[in-house]
Amino acid sequence: MAALNKKTVDDINVKDKRVLVRCDFNVPLQDGKITDETRIVAALPTIKKLIADGGKVILCSHLGKPKGEPKPELSLAPVAVRLSELLGQEVKFAADPEVVGPNAKAAVEAMKDGDVVLLENTRYRAEETKNGEEFSKELASLCDVFVNDAFGTAHRAHCSNVGVTKYVDIAVVGYLMEKEIKFLGNAVENPERPFVAILGGSKVSSKISVINNLLEKVDTLIIGGGMCYTFTKAQGGNVGNSLLEEDYLQYALDMVKKAEEKGVKLLLPVDAVAADAFSNDANTKVVAQNEIPDGWMGLDIGPKTAEMFADAVKSAKTVVWNGPMGCFEMSKFADGTKAVAEALANTDAVTIIGGGDSAAAVNQLGYGDKMTHISTGGGASLEFLEGKELPGVAAANDK
Ligand code: 3PG
Repeated sequence: MAALNKKTVDDINVKDKRVLVRCDFNVPLQDGKITDETRIVAALPTIKKLIADGGKVILCSHLGKPKGEPKPELSLAPVAVRLSELLGQEVKFAADPEVVGPNAKAAVEAMKDGDVVLLENTRYRAEETKNGEEFSKELASLCDVFVNDAFGTAHRAHCSNVGVTKYVDIAVVGYLMEKEIKFLGNAVENPERPFVAILGGSKVSSKISVINNLLEKVDTLIIGGGMCYTFTKAQGGNVGNSLLEEDYLQYALDMVKKAEEKGVKLLLPVDAVAADAFSNDANTKVVAQNEIPDGWMGLDIGPKTAEMFADAVKSAKTVVWNGPMGCFEMSKFADGTKAVAEALANTDAVTIIGGGDSAAAVNQLGYGDKMTHISTGGGASLEFLEGKELPGVAAANDK
């Protein structure tokens, strides 16, 4: 496993101490109900450890984008309820529009060892996303020790994961953060080969750095999703009305050349499921990838491509997947993503799923427990795969 040179919860003693834990409880909600609790469950090992060690456990997180003001529909109250159930003990919710206002301070003041308090959505405060000094200090004033276990937010430099560390003596990472960095880091830096990366999602522009970085590391790079049409067009194909980023045609060609130079096998789709409208009710037909007629758009990889991608996975020893192969939210265009998920579920290779849409797809299809690791971070795992240092990790104390 790749080594993490940061102090973790195993390196500290929290008995009788107030421990502020930054979690990523940014979970999807529908009518006040949590529709996917993966991130809450993933935070439990750290929380349980701190409770067992006799800490006073103060949890905080953002939820959605309330843009610096209290929005009742983005309150973390439902998370406190579910956490209480999962932990089998009360998680006191410190309802407080200022996040660290009188209610939160009183709740922390009243804590005994082993108690758990959850603060209100940190993004109720405008300073949070600006990494402002005042709110960072307020958060720090609540605690003796800071633990960052919010991998999903590690690519952000905000008060509750970065600013706060300037005003506490001890800042370490939690078990989830440690696990994420170990799995993703090991896959990229020390993979068992052949190492195959599968990239999907809609835009080349959002995957520029990741394509570039992974071409330095992988044996095979597979590109599907909306961004493949820019590659096809760049190579002279007709892509009809498919998603196209004209500004990235040259970049696509550069990446094809880089793959050749590096001896990386670059697999691009050979056929597409084309539709005459962006709708699940559209007429569809399978066409050659470079012959998508005008008025039609590619919305999924075709069956030959799905077979080719699945074949490439069969002989792999490490597979990293980020981004769906098509518009899988619409059932007519979900087969390509399903085929890739199935191929990953059936291989003995180490399989790492970048968070976000690919994690949602794998879970929806019921293959979650067949994967070696599913990241809880969408943007964070992508930036990690780009080779960037994550500010939330960098801010913790070195070993
Ligand atoms: C995520 O869901 O990717 C993280 O919680 C970060 O959320 P953000 O994109 O709103 O900063």
